[in-house]
Amino acid sequence: MTAQIIDGKALADELRQSFKARVEALAAKGHRPGLVVILVGADPASEVYVRNKVNGCLAIGMHSEKITYEASVDQATVLNKIAELNADPNIHGILVQLPLPKHFDEEKVLEAIAADKDVDGFHAENVGALAQGNPRFIPCTPYGVMKMFEKGGVDLTGQEAVVIGRSNIVGKPMALLLINAGATVTVCNSRTKDLKFHTRRADILVAAVGKPKFVTADMVKPGAVVIDVGINRLPDGKLCGDVDFAGCLEVAGQITPVPGGVGPMTITMLLANTIEAAERKAGL
Ligand code: GUN
Repeated sequence: MTAQIIDGKALADELRQSFKARVEALAAKGHRPGLVVILVGADPASEVYVRNKVNGCLAIGMHSEKITYEASVDQATVLNKIAELNADPNIHGILVQLPLPKHFDEEKVLEAIAADKDVDGFHAENVGALAQGNPRFIPCTPYGVMKMFEKGGVDLTGQEAVVIGRSNIVGKPMALLLINAGATVTVCNSRTKDLKFHTRRADILVAAVGKPKFVTADMVKPGAVVIDVGINRLPDGKLCGDVDFAGCLEVAGQITPVPGGVGPMTITMLLANTIEAAERKAGL
């Protein structure tokens, strides 16, 4: 049986359309939602992501700006800019694109962002709220995945969910969201002894590994929902996910493609979090 494809691009477009009215309602009250994205260094992939984030905001009537620094900038300069943005009433969301250059203390930078402007959901206060089951800002990629489950009519209660990857950006918050939704959750990593043993019993399989076509058809339980968070560039320039899409398509029940799956949902949920921040500030 061929799996049903969960179209992230279509869902992202639908959600972004629905955000326009919220943005206009806020703007009419003098609270046009505003996002600042800080980029340190010139990593080509990060530059593309940051451009897409800023353009995603502008396309639905939000305010957005990019602040760039040379990779050699000192941390104090960036921390001073964050403090300035924390105090700026026209800015509702602040995002520092990761990874940062090696001389940065990433945790210190993320903690410097005011928790009520932390639209990435990476501040310890927001991570804690998510862990306690009362999220304030949900990290954008796993938030987008949850929206895809919702759209696909996937009931997570009592399901065996396996997440491959334990990063702060995707794996850990994804696991917390699945726990909060009532799934039975296993988080695997590169040291996991028998990965296939775990993945083969997953009703829900989320791959956030960073290795092209890592998840093969023999690792997937027939009928499973397979979510591919990976965005890898192949030598020929094409994008591919962490899942061998062609192979897994014949085993899974539902599957996300790359491109056009989780990727467009990540930026969509960043827009959602920024609008939400502005609505909270406006007392809506
Ligand atoms: N780098 C890769 N993904 C992300 C993300 O979701 N947020 C930030 N700030 N940096 C990233």
